[in-house]
Amino acid sequence: MADSPVSHHPAGSSQQPPEVDAPDTSHEQRAQMEQAYQQMQRKMRISKMDEGIKHKVMVLSGKGGVGKSTVATGLALSLARQGKKVGLMDIDITGPNVPKMLGLENADLNVEDGQIFPAIGPHGLEVISMAFLIEDPDKPVIWRGPIKLGAIQQFIGDVAWGELDALIIDFPPGTSDEPLTVSQSLPGIDGVVIVTTPQEIALLDSRKSINFAKTISIPVLGVIENMSGYTIRGTAEANTIISVMGPSGIPLECETDDEGNWALTLNVFKSGGGEESAKELDVPFLGSLPFDPGIVRGGDDGVHRIVSEPDGETAQAFDSIVARITEKLERGSGPSLRIT
Ligand SMILES: Nc1ncnc2c1ncn2[C@@H]1O[C@H](COP(=O)(O)OP(=O)(O)OP(=O)(O)O)[C@@H](O)[C@H]1O
Ligand SMILES: [Mg+2]
Repeated sequence: MADSPVSHHPAGSSQQPPEVDAPDTSHEQRAQMEQAYQQMQRKMRISKMDEGIKHKVMVLSGKGGVGKSTVATGLALSLARQGKKVGLMDIDITGPNVPKMLGLENADLNVEDGQIFPAIGPHGLEVISMAFLIEDPDKPVIWRGPIKLGAIQQFIGDVAWGELDALIIDFPPGTSDEPLTVSQSLPGIDGVVIVTTPQEIALLDSRKSINFAKTISIPVLGVIENMSGYTIRGTAEANTIISVMGPSGIPLECETDDEGNWALTLNVFKSGGGEESAKELDVPFLGSLPFDPGIVRGGDDGVHRIVSEPDGETAQAFDSIVARITEKLERGSGPSLRIT
């Protein structure tokens, strides 16, 4: 592929296109035939992916920076630590950051027989990201539409996932070309998970993601509210009232227990917006994830919160969201899930 951003021809590959040596076959014709042959192989592999991967879930958000990649990675890790075989595909071509969150920035990918083997993260999580294929991470990737779409199709068709219980797909924000291309290229997508924060602006944008899912006839598994509330804890005299200055200078009160422990949740943005908007938009609410400074640290250090604090509040919140998603997936895409 002349302008292909992802092109790999391993030495000694056993699946090279057949030799075309007719004397009048021009170089260009040969290249075209080779391209057609690769495209055919890719299509065959993509159709096999439907059989080999039990569940495929797309993670979307209307607004950028709401924690989509953090959530996609967390969902994948939570499933993987239950012993499931899980893949995580980072489709964010212009700003792929999943490898950094998993400490896999310097991972070397194996390419064999024209297929890319994913990097292996914590709990055996199989990870593939455009970041692995970009030589200079500081250089912005600017690809024209068709090249970008071609790259996504190659990206989907050329990865050797093997058998998986679930494939989680992370996207750039919005409902642009990427989720559309994936939904058209990859058969059997089970559903879309929408990530939002409790801010009104993020909630409004979620509506667009829900409408997008309806347009492409993919069920909405539900909405996750991220950065929901920040819980602070302390100790003081038992059975007394504690007052803390909350956001916007509004005092919050709570009572200490018999041991003198207290806990207060500060709603950094707002609270309950995700649940309300899910109700309003008639899609399931999958749960909330707390605002957790450890997530930011983990993102920078390459150790996801689920890995650094497997029994912590955030890891538990991920587990209960995953339990709800699993239940929906196992129930199948019956009428309750199907949106037309
Ligand atoms: N629950 C949380 N608590 C605290 N910080 C969080 C939380 N979730 C995500 N973050 C932080 O918010 C920032 C954005 O997160 P992330 O990159 O996952 O968002 P995104 O929606 O994927 O962004 P983009 O739209 O650019 O793809 C990161 O610094 C991340 O560490
Ligand atoms: Mg992201």
